[in-house]
Amino acid sequence: MSDSYANVIAIDGPAASGKSTVARTLAERLHIPYINTGAMYRALAWKLINSSREITSLSSEDISAFLSTTKLACVVNKESGLFEIEIDGVRPGGQLHTDPVSAGASAIATIPEVRSWLLDTQRSMAGETKIVMEGRDIGTCIFPNAKYKFFLTASPEVRAERRLKQNGGAVDPETLARVAADIAARDEQDRNRTTAPLKQAPDALFLDNSELDLEQTIDVILKQVKKRDILLSRNTVLKYRVPYADTDQMGVVYYANYLKYFEMLRTEMMIAAGESYQQMEEHGYALPVIEAVCRYKASAHFEDVLEITGRIAECKGVRVKIECEIHCRGKLLAEGYTVHACINREGRPVRAPQTLIQLMTGEV
Ligand code: CDP
Repeated sequence: MSDSYANVIAIDGPAASGKSTVARTLAERLHIPYINTGAMYRALAWKLINSSREITSLSSEDISAFLSTTKLACVVNKESGLFEIEIDGVRPGGQLHTDPVSAGASAIATIPEVRSWLLDTQRSMAGETKIVMEGRDIGTCIFPNAKYKFFLTASPEVRAERRLKQNGGAVDPETLARVAADIAARDEQDRNRTTAPLKQAPDALFLDNSELDLEQTIDVILKQVKKRDILLSRNTVLKYRVPYADTDQMGVVYYANYLKYFEMLRTEMMIAAGESYQQMEEHGYALPVIEAVCRYKASAHFEDVLEITGRIAECKGVRVKIECEIHCRGKLLAEGYTVHACINREGRPVRAPQTLIQLMTGEV
């Protein structure tokens, strides 16, 4: 595990696989920026086409001259709140989505100088907060260390139909065949270029969304992001408002409840890791507590919001140790741990299941 993961949700995939809609919706749901790197290649192609330049016949000097006289920026559109591409002070918007610009973008994207010229701009966009970045090489070249990687695709028929609907065109068989051929040609070019070809990063989640609607696709991605957050931080956080029933005659949380809070956190931890405790039991495992320790530092009261955090501190053979801390308004109230023995249905000790090992190691 490393702290140098880029806080980027990388969504790569072939043309018209639904990337843009998925990436934009995801960013809206998470209230984070969305960057469409395809628009950068499109903007460069748009500029060249407007100046009547033939992209395929540009020499190395032409490219250098072109790039040195081009200013490309990602600016926020005040109305939509989304990033938009500005090239030499102009925002081409919808003009970036014509057929010649699509073909031109794919051609210009094969030129290594262009790709390295864009690399710094794209990398400079990552920071403390998460961003969604969409393209062809985000998880492989721009951010090989991105925390979250997805490779989104769909069948050629579905993609052609989506592209036609997106452009408001009629879905007759002839047009559909032409659009499918255009998409296939671009994919071919994107996959076979030498620099940063379109391919799935080995650690990306492959997601064919031919049979999924937008909500279902977003759901899969959000669950994966959450799971990855937990696996990487190994630190589950649970917020809990103290009810009246948890307090004693002295008006503070009764000491034994802290062990219940530890258990609540364990439940959340497992659900977030993709296998609830109940499912684990169904798979034949149980984790009885064989040791519990809690050190009390300060009291909690009715209606306080507790922040319960924890991690799997040890997962060796049959023994699992889970550490827990309880804070309120930044102050540590209690800390401790539970030790569990992993047993099977017959009550015999067995090695801890994969979910727990994953939580321990941070590997998905
Ligand atoms: O919207 P669509 O998927 O059709 O394409 P796009 O994402 O707007 O990208 C346009 C073209 O730019 C693609 O065909 C790729 O050739 C190129 N591109 C790239 O090479 N690398 C990226 N990170 C993004 C786009």
